[in-house]
Formats: sequence, C-alpha cells, structure tokens
Amino acid sequence: MSAQELKQMIEKAGRIVAFTGAGISAESGIPTYRGADGVWNKYDPNKYANVNYFLQEPSYYWNFFREVRYQVLKQAKPNEGHKALARLEERGLLKAVITQNVDGLHQEAGSKNVLELHGNTRKIICLDCGKSYGIDEVREQVETELPPPCRSCGGMLKPDVVLFGEALPAETLEQATEESRSCDLFISVGSSLVVQPAASMPVIAKRAGAALVIVNQDATPLDKQADLVIRESASAVLSEAVQE
Ligand code: APR
Ligand code: ZN
Repeated sequence: MSAQELKQMIEKAGRIVAFTGAGISAESGIPTYRGADGVWNKYDPNKYANVNYFLQEPSYYWNFFREVRYQVLKQAKPNEGHKALARLEERGLLKAVITQNVDGLHQEAGSKNVLELHGNTRKIICLDCGKSYGIDEVREQVETELPPPCRSCGGMLKPDVVLFGEALPAETLEQATEESRSCDLFISVGSSLVVQPAASMPVIAKRAGAALVIVNQDATPLDKQADLVIRESASAVLSEAVQE
C-alpha cells in the first residue's frame, strides 16, 4: 500500500525534491556505509574518509581506491530507483535530486539537476595545481605509484569528494537548502540521516511546510517527523510510485 500512498502524494504535489543516500545505490552493487555489508566494516572511516589522515597518509585511501572503490564504480549501473527519479524530473514534477552519493549514478540515469553535497568520486583533482583527471587514468598510475602524483605538476591528487573534516561545497549546499525550503514534497531515499549538514535538508523542508516521506530499509532519527515512512527497497517503491 505505501508505494501507492507515495504515488498519490506525488500526483498531488507541485514541487518535489528527492534526497538520496547510499541505500539507493546499494542495488547497483555499491556497498552502503552503515548497513550490514557497510564498506566501513572493512575500512576504517577515521582513516580512509578523513581529510587529516588522507593528507598524512594518502596511500591508505589509494589502496582502498585500487582494491574496492574503482572496481565497484566501474561495475555499477543506475538501477530502477535512479531511473524513476530521472523520469519524475522529465515529467516536470521533480525539481532537484540532492544526493550524498559520490557515484554519479543519478546523472548516468538521466537526472539533470543533481546537487552533489559530498562531491563526485569519479573526478580526481590535484590539490596543488587544480588539474582534474578521470578515475581510469589514475587507476593505471596507482598500479605503479602510491600515492599517484599529479602528471602535470607532481602535486598531491585527491578524489573530488568531501572527506570527514572538510567543508561541503558552499554553492551546492546553498542551492540544496533553497530547494529544500521551496518544495512541497521531500522524499528521502536510502539514507540513515545521521550525517550533518546533509541530514538537515529534510528538517528544513519539513519546517518550511513540505510533506516528508522517508523510504529506507532501517529506521532513521527523522521517522517520527515523517508524514510517511516506507521500510522497503528504494527501486521497488520508486518505480511503483512514479508510474503514470
Ligand atoms: N533500499 C532502501 N534503503 C536501503 C537499501 C535499499 N535497497 N539498502 C540499504 N538501505 C538503507 C539502509 O537501511 C541505511 O539506513 O540505506 C541507508 C544507508 O545509510 P548509510 O550507509 O549511512 O548511507 P548515507 O545515509 O548515504 O551516509 C551519509 O555518510 O559516510 C558518509 O559521506 C558518506 O554520504 C555518506 C554519508
Ligand atoms: Zn597538479
């Protein structure tokens, strides 16, 4: 029933915003951070995802990139959940996807207005000269050089993602806040809603009068504030709720 309830809310809404977390990409084979198969279990988040540790010991991250991140990204394809959100945008009902994910699958599924609060791991940037590279060219380098130096200035390369301890991209955060404030239906999909400031987006939307729907397999701290909580898989719920 609940996907049908969401479908009715979508049909009535004027301005919808979707907010996504790792759970929407789980069905594309990308491990979530805190679920049972969470990638954190194998890698220490205080090391590979922390900017201070990265700057001290960049090879820890690049080993993770070589052994996990790159393979997973190369195999990952958008799933029915990503595609449903892209269709909803095409129908003119969904104004923006605000995502915590760094996998680029929303864009690959056809979504146009994607606000990447935590950056995009398919892009590698040089901290010294600002040059950017794709993951394929850096993947070759990490076979022989750890950490991989920038090909043009020899500087330090870093994935273009927000690591713990780093500020979110101000412009993107501002746009996401604006979209959250001006929507009348806010759908959070596949996020545990525990990491700030991303997790304040649903609260901003609710405070501004939007209806809040949470689609997530596990409970979240915002369930009590939600108008509808659907504890099922993202792709099944979204494809049913978005059907015309
Ligand atoms: N359908 C719906 N929900 C799912 C599915 C699925 N198929 N698979 C997993 N989930 C839910 C889990 O129940 C979990 O609560 O997705 C949620 C994923 O939560 P997290 O792993 O915490 O991911 P996220 O909320 O995106 O983490 C936020 O934390 O580590 C940082 O920067 C990282 O962007 C990330 C941020
Ligand atoms: Zn450089």
